Amino acid sequence: MHQDVEKILFTQEELEDRVRELGRQITEDYQGKEVAVASVLRGSYIFMADLTRAIELPITVDFMAVSSYGAGTVSSGQVEIKKDLSDSIEGKNLIIVEDILDSGNTLYYLMDVLRARKPESIRICTLLDKPERRTKPIRADYTGFTIPDAFVVGYGLDYNEKYRNLPYIGILKPEVYGG
Ligand code: PRP
Repeated sequence: MHQDVEKILFTQEELEDRVRELGRQITEDYQGKEVAVASVLRGSYIFMADLTRAIELPITVDFMAVSSYGAGTVSSGQVEIKKDLSDSIEGKNLIIVEDILDSGNTLYYLMDVLRARKPESIRICTLLDKPERRTKPIRADYTGFTIPDAFVVGYGLDYNEKYRNLPYIGILKPEVYGG
């Protein structure tokens, strides 16, 4: 375990199993449909790679990047599109892939922007959900794990751009972020 990690919340194996289940569920739900899977960088890059490989449908993949947190641990409430999707989503069944749903601010804003582009449907798939922290009325259609309000890193999630490559999800030691 990394020295800055207090506790492992989900092991590599637990993540693999849950992501495979989510992929199976999505595969069942979207039989016969045209599906575009789009992830919000950067935190979701590992989840996206694993999830899409667990979906047995002819999907397309796309990416967007937004920024809301800056270098801190608390969302500023400001959302800015840094990189937009490359393809049109008009008429597509869009699945937005996120690593974590926290205040809901990012997705609340994004859903508005994306709905205006007239997709056939939009659903949200998040690996982690922290419902306690929600300030915007938004919920995920597919959730990997519901977690308490702890500072988690690994499997794509960072603190100050570090720890994304840890193969598990761990709780960061409070002294690392001055908590
Ligand atoms: C994280 C995460 C979500 C957002 C969730 O991104 O990937 O996009 O915060 O928080 P919210 O529900 O409070 O809006 P972050 O801004 O940390 O960027 P990153 O994905 O590049 O790590």
